[in-house]
Amino acid sequence: MTYEEAKQKLAAAGQEHALQYWGELKEEERQALLAQIDALDFSMIHYVKDRNELQKRGKITPLGAMELPEIEANRERYKEKGLAAIRAGKVAAVLLAGGMGTRLGSDNPKCMYDIGLTHPVFIMQRLIENAMDVVREAGCFFPFYIMTSDKNHDATVRFLKEHDFFGYDPAKVHFFQQDMAPAVDYDGKVYMEEKYRIASSPNGNGGWFVSMAKAGLVKQLREEGVEWLNCFAVDNVLQRIADPVFVGAVLDRQAASGAKVVRKVTPEEKVGAMCLEDGKPSIVEYYDMTPELLCAKDAKGDPAYNFGVILNYLFREADLEKIMNEKLMLHIVEKKIPYLAADGTHVKPEKPNGYKFEQLILDMVHEMDSCLPFEVDREREFAPIKNRTGVDSVESARALCQKNGILL
Ligand code: UTP
Repeated sequence: MTYEEAKQKLAAAGQEHALQYWGELKEEERQALLAQIDALDFSMIHYVKDRNELQKRGKITPLGAMELPEIEANRERYKEKGLAAIRAGKVAAVLLAGGMGTRLGSDNPKCMYDIGLTHPVFIMQRLIENAMDVVREAGCFFPFYIMTSDKNHDATVRFLKEHDFFGYDPAKVHFFQQDMAPAVDYDGKVYMEEKYRIASSPNGNGGWFVSMAKAGLVKQLREEGVEWLNCFAVDNVLQRIADPVFVGAVLDRQAASGAKVVRKVTPEEKVGAMCLEDGKPSIVEYYDMTPELLCAKDAKGDPAYNFGVILNYLFREADLEKIMNEKLMLHIVEKKIPYLAADGTHVKPEKPNGYKFEQLILDMVHEMDSCLPFEVDREREFAPIKNRTGVDSVESARALCQKNGILL
């Protein structure tokens, strides 16, 4: 992109100030800035002012889950079905590890965080150990894709290499980077991180399939015969990966997707709940739960929106290709954005000072024709690490690991 083209692109989005330091920049800094302007999409920024144009929620109704007793009754059958699909090379894992992990507050990527007490136990190591359970049962490795971002890619790749992929077959591991989105102040003007760099952050975990396609990996997995993608978060250290029972149940139901869910502790628990929205599968965020939805009961008298998602989904690849050009819902999130102040100092704000733009994987479920909510026991499968202490923390995850006999 030339300077003139960059100027035009910025002017169209009201962001000309991103070139204000041009005269002071060295040649390589100029090139870096032009490349960033070329790569960034500024078209969503106007929604800061035009929020009423953002998609509204549809009509929410209940969606029943496949519950534990039904799963137990069919466990072996589902497991065989799932293992057969894994052995046939139809299932791949996709680790979403592009997040910033700001709540955990570590300088390294989250996957490098050590939760060990007597010896190192890195988050990534826990995930791969879990995947290895399935590798052993199936008798083969399955493709393992890892999404990183500009902010953590090099460190993540280096870390896995240094640790010999924790025993996973390196030939089966593929990395790709997600896109970045600009970060703006409350008036919708991009912050500058440096004189030659616009402040940006990973664009949420919903862009993973598009980023995978841009990296040429969708073509690759199609050629290899992969039909199902199991996507999961980096921070659940009890995460079951390519769980054959889950895969088998989704195949058995002939659903286009599946979502692992846990029974909510209380209707108010802060997790997104599975539902139907205008008749299609969806996830209603806890802050969108109205008093009517919180009180609603199903035929058994249980809360009707009783199952929360844990960011472990199975998607049929062909269906993802069909929806990849659909615009997912845009989330405008208030955050603390480090920036370069007018006096040339670098500011790390203590309080939120603007917005980031994200698309979320949970909104992809709504694009699917069907989704099977699949209940799992939270004590065995859900130990997210979001914070250092308290709820969903290193402490709570360690306690759950120990409960499951994992040596830390
Ligand atoms: P979170 O919503 O917990 O976000 O991500 P985060 O960035 O990791 O942490 P905070 O909010 O800054 O503390 C849930 C999952 O989605 C991935 C994360 O890596 C995690 O596995 N993710 C999130 C991405 O891959 N990309 C993103 O842009 C955001």
